[in-house]
Amino acid sequence: MSTERQPIGVIGTGYVGLVTAAGFAELGSEVWCVDIDAAKIERLRRGEVPIYEPGLEELLAKNRDRLHFSTDLSKALEHARLLFVAVGTPPTHSGDADLSAVHEVVAAMPASAEHALVMKSTVPCGTGSSIKRIFRDQGKSGFSYVSCPEFLKEGSAVKDFLHPDRVVIGDDGDWAGEAVAGLYEPFGAPLVRTDIASAEMIKLAANAFLATKISFINEIANVCEEVGADVVEVALGMGLDARIGPKFLQAGLGYGGSCFTKDVSALKLLAGNSGYHFQLLNAVIEVNELQKRRVVSKLQRHLGALAGKQIALLGLAFKPNTDDMRGASSLVLAARLQAEGAQVRAFDPIAEEEARKLMGQLDYASGALDAVANADAVVLVTEWPEFIELDWKQVAQAMRGTLVIDGRNALDQEAVRAVGLIYEGIGRGSKKATEQSPAKEPV
Ligand code: UDX
Repeated sequence: MSTERQPIGVIGTGYVGLVTAAGFAELGSEVWCVDIDAAKIERLRRGEVPIYEPGLEELLAKNRDRLHFSTDLSKALEHARLLFVAVGTPPTHSGDADLSAVHEVVAAMPASAEHALVMKSTVPCGTGSSIKRIFRDQGKSGFSYVSCPEFLKEGSAVKDFLHPDRVVIGDDGDWAGEAVAGLYEPFGAPLVRTDIASAEMIKLAANAFLATKISFINEIANVCEEVGADVVEVALGMGLDARIGPKFLQAGLGYGGSCFTKDVSALKLLAGNSGYHFQLLNAVIEVNELQKRRVVSKLQRHLGALAGKQIALLGLAFKPNTDDMRGASSLVLAARLQAEGAQVRAFDPIAEEEARKLMGQLDYASGALDAVANADAVVLVTEWPEFIELDWKQVAQAMRGTLVIDGRNALDQEAVRAVGLIYEGIGRGSKKATEQSPAKEPV
């Protein structure tokens, strides 16, 4: 079966590109990976994986014979008809997506009626149509184009790729859409076949909706703190309604990562540039920004002025199981604490190297217990399993103060309290708190 699978090209060897390459190689395709970064290609050829993503290294190693790495695009063009594009589309200063890497790929394509670009990178709605126009202007109108957005999550990217909830394919009804559908067929996932603009919009709308869900529950958490309710109980009760669902209802320090921050802002601007003011997304973004900062007021409430106070941050990555620091809440939190004059000491089991590139001034600890030594307060920023399993007796002995702020509502609050520490989560009022401070009468 494996020899019958279509060979593919993958342009860009970041998170999405490498997972796509490894995933299709696992299904039996020969995969021709291309990147302009020669050093990266050299490392990949040696079997080194430049990013931390559980299971990726093993999958690449397992399918090594089918994976070919080069800086030369012509190899991919020679062997494959479908060229998956997975280059970066970071936000520009205006918040629009920077499509320069995508345009370089487009410009490098030859005139061909045998090839198709399959867009995996997240691009604004309308990009497909403008790329087709460029192809026409350059006399390459035979070149096909398919939008096939990727929904994988960092930290579980390999699993998400191999077991997608759905596969979205936007195309013009030519051979290329069929060919991409054929590649994905073995996954057995629901297939959404649609036009290119709708496929592009599905990706932006899905991410913006998930971000909205998080900002919504974060606002509920903030109200819970005022009225003595517990957001974890509230989310449980809400999530059992099948129309709402339990996922993405964890209140915390706000969402991070490259996708949500970038895509919410890209959708807002896309709407604005087309003359529509997307009010809801303004609030989603603002709530998220404020959420990262609320921890500072919580610390001040307990400790007074933070100047000279020692604050330990447990975790820096934007979520567990990744070394990705893009959009991480820790960036804003650490900077705000330092601006208040606090001494910030942090530990992350995987993301330290990435964090150092963005926060050179931070004091990095060698482990969790080292981070909390002499701390006036500890803030859980990223819910890595090793923090959840901490021995709180040892933490209490190492600390100078007694305050633990659980920025992800992930700790066992009874275990923390049992050793004499003060536990404060996000939106974790309790029945007891309700008795002490009854909900304010509506005015
Ligand atoms: C996201 C989308 O989930 C994925 O479909 C898309 O392809 C890329 O963007 P990712 O950025 O890897 O994936 O992270 P995700 O697991 O979705 O989490 C994003 C952020 O939201 C994290 O900072 C996480 O801590 C936060 N989050 C998530 C919450 O604060 N509460 C939740 O309930 C869920």
